[in-house]
Amino acid sequence: MISTNVAIDLADIVAFALFIYGLHELNSPATARRGNRFAMAGMAIAIAGILIRTGAAGWPAVAAGVGLGALVGIYAALKVKMTAMPQMVALYNGAGGGAAALISTVQFLIAARTGGLDNVVAVSLVLSAIIGAVSFAGSIIAFLKLQELMTGRPVTYAGQQVVNGIVLLAILLLGAWVIATLGALPAWGYLAMLGCALLLGVLFVLPIGGADMPVVISLLNSFTGVAVAITGFEIDSTLLIICGALVGASGTILTVAMSRAMNRPLTNVLFGAFGSAGGTEVATASGAPQQIRSTSADDVGVMLAYASKVIFVPGYGMAVAQAQHSVKALADQLEKRGVKVLYAIHPVAGRMPGHMNVLLAEANVPYNQLLDMEDANPEFPTADVALVIGANDVTNPAARNVASSPIYGMPILDVDKAGNVVVLKRSMRSGFAGIENPLYEMPNCSMLFGDAKASVDALTAAVKAL
Ligand code: TAP
Repeated sequence: MISTNVAIDLADIVAFALFIYGLHELNSPATARRGNRFAMAGMAIAIAGILIRTGAAGWPAVAAGVGLGALVGIYAALKVKMTAMPQMVALYNGAGGGAAALISTVQFLIAARTGGLDNVVAVSLVLSAIIGAVSFAGSIIAFLKLQELMTGRPVTYAGQQVVNGIVLLAILLLGAWVIATLGALPAWGYLAMLGCALLLGVLFVLPIGGADMPVVISLLNSFTGVAVAITGFEIDSTLLIICGALVGASGTILTVAMSRAMNRPLTNVLFGAFGSAGGTEVATASGAPQQIRSTSADDVGVMLAYASKVIFVPGYGMAVAQAQHSVKALADQLEKRGVKVLYAIHPVAGRMPGHMNVLLAEANVPYNQLLDMEDANPEFPTADVALVIGANDVTNPAARNVASSPIYGMPILDVDKAGNVVVLKRSMRSGFAGIENPLYEMPNCSMLFGDAKASVDALTAAVKAL
């Protein structure tokens, strides 16, 4: 017979395996749902193990926490719109960092009462409190920016990095003091360290532009993972160490992947004060208005209906307009007429990783029609029409050939190489990068102005009428 403790340890190993397999399944939209189910099963097993370890006396407290968390989670999953997903992730992430900092605080208070900490616990306690608090406060600022409860623009002032450096130094000195005194330090010393870490979280995120926030959230997510893993050492929980390490590693990989796809070093995202919240009026290099051609839904309907290959290029505007179902309806209509329809997905289209994939999956677009940038670009030269639906920066040819452009070097979708390009947007306002798009002046490009959903619906009607 194996003991209860060994049985729980074995159950934990099953839970880790399910988490890791679940993460692996998130690699493809086709298996992502299944991946979530595996991870959910892993979490259920992990929670059961915690309940058994805690013993019946602790169940009410655990049940209250799990019940409250489940209610918030279910409400958010049902109510929060896809476009608000980044700020929801920021809040969840902040909660994880805050939990790590709270556990450290409780450990510190216990040590202060019972008189003493061992070295490993003291170091882990200080690290998880600092990293968790930075992540908590930074995530709250990210949430406030994305929810437009405060300005989404970078907040900068003279000597900003010096101030941040001084706060960081204070945190390090106070942290060293906590470790050196092994819990015998007066509580105010620990609280001052925690307060400075919260302040650093705020100061660190303030200068970052609203639309760079997804990258920062992903970075803060990896901080939370690290804080949670260290908390695992503090309270001797293998479960927390492994889960924290998974979150820390995946958050780091995602952060690096997003920076690469924008062709910007992470330091530029964090310290470059780049990017408005999007949608500023742009001036042309010459100061003169852009020479653009405006078109009508009826004309584009004819162009689409008689095409043999059409590539849809969705972007942030499709998310704002919630046009994904209308886009699928247009694709169905075109396919009925024998037109080949493909979707070109840029890795940073929209405002969060996989934004377009999630929206199109919600509209039941078949996964095999979704092409990554590398597979989509060779298709444009043989496409009759590239229909750009609320995308802007990810189609900007300046990234290829204007060395002075802020997005120079960012890999883009080569929509300009299609026979015809039709851009669906509401105005000549910029995208996230706040810059002019020379695509709109190209001879094969025309603009269909209006809300993306209304325009796509009008195109479907026009195609149907032919
Ligand atoms: P953007 O360049 O931001 O352009 C979106 C365009 O959609 C805007 O020009 C806007 O023009 C239009 N639009 C907005 N609402 C619309 C509506 N209701 N109907 C029709 N059009 C609408 O988007 P993108 O091409 O997807 O590029 C994403 C940008 O975000 C990149 O610069 C990327 O680096 C950045 N970014 C992405 C991520 C991730 S992970 N995806 C993270 C951080 C930053 P109008 O106002 O004229 O309509």
